[in-house]
Amino acid sequence: MDILEVIKERRSVRSFNGELLTPEMESSLNAAIANTYNPFGGKVTIRLKAFDKKAGYKPSTYGMIKGATNFFMLGIGADEASALSAGFCFEQVVLKAQEMGLGTCWIAATFKGSDFDRGEVWPSGEELKIICPVGVPEKPRILEKIGRMAMGSNKRKPFGEVFFTDNFKNPLAPDSHFGESLEMMRLAPSSTNSQPWRVLVDGRTVHFYYKPKSSVSVLDCGIGMCHFYLTEKFLGRKGSFFKAESAPTPPEDWKYLYSFSEE
Ligand SMILES: Cc1cc2nc3c(=O)[nH]c(=O)nc-3n(C[C@H](O)[C@H](O)[C@H](O)COP(=O)(O)O)c2cc1C
Repeated sequence: MDILEVIKERRSVRSFNGELLTPEMESSLNAAIANTYNPFGGKVTIRLKAFDKKAGYKPSTYGMIKGATNFFMLGIGADEASALSAGFCFEQVVLKAQEMGLGTCWIAATFKGSDFDRGEVWPSGEELKIICPVGVPEKPRILEKIGRMAMGSNKRKPFGEVFFTDNFKNPLAPDSHFGESLEMMRLAPSSTNSQPWRVLVDGRTVHFYYKPKSSVSVLDCGIGMCHFYLTEKFLGRKGSFFKAESAPTPPEDWKYLYSFSEE
C-alpha cells in the first residue's frame, strides 16, 4: 500500500477489540517512533504503553474510547516548534499503524491526564498533552457515529477555500504543481475537524499559515504538513522547510508558520 492510499484510508477509530498488541506489532510501532523525522527541532517524546489488567487500573477517556488497551502518550514542549514537531512526528507513527491495519485516534481533550501520567516522568519542559489509543478496530458504536456526524468528520473544506497562489484571493488549482501533496494535507485529521491550515503557493515555494481555532491548531498544522511532506517524498521530489524572513503578509486573522521550498 502506498502512502497516498494509507492517507486516504485513515479514519479516527474509537472502538477496539480489547486485545493487547502482539510483541511484533509493538516492536514495529516502536521502530516507527525511533525513526520519525523532525524538521522543526521541537521537543516531543512519544511512548507506547499497555494498560492491561497488570496496570491495576483503566485510564479514563470519559467513555469516548472503547476496548483499547494500548495507548501512545506524547510529552510535548510548550513552544510553537514543539507543537509543530509533535503533529509532524506522531502522524508518521499514526500512518504506520494504519498501514499495519491498526486503528488510532489523536486525543487532546477527552482524556484524564492524571490517569495516563501515573508513573510517567517526562523530559524537562515537556508535558503530557496528547494520548492516542492503538489496536485492532471494531465496528463503530452508535455514539461514535453520532459524534462523527456532529463534527462532520467525513468532510473537509474545499481545496480552493484553504489553498491559494500568488495572492490570498486566488484559489490554487488542484492539478497544479503542489496539488497532490496539498490534497493529502487537506485530508489530514485535526482537532474537532477544524482544519486550521492555510497555504499560499509562490512558484516552487509553499508558505504555510493557520487560522487559530484552538490551543492545538499549530499541532494540527504539523499533522497536515506531515501529509504534505510524505507525499512530496513519495513523488520523488526534494525540498526542505524553513522560516521565511519576509513571508507574504496574510489576512488579519491568519498567522504565518513555516515555508517549504523544492530544491
Ligand atoms: C490534535 C487532535 C486532537 C483530537 N482530540 C480529540 C479528542 O479529544 N477526542 C476525540 O474524540 N477526538 C479527537 N480528535 C479526532 C478528531 O475529531 C478527528 O480527527 C476529526 O473529526 C476528523 O476525523 P477523522 O480523523 O476520522 O478523519 C482529535 C484529532 C486531532 C488531530
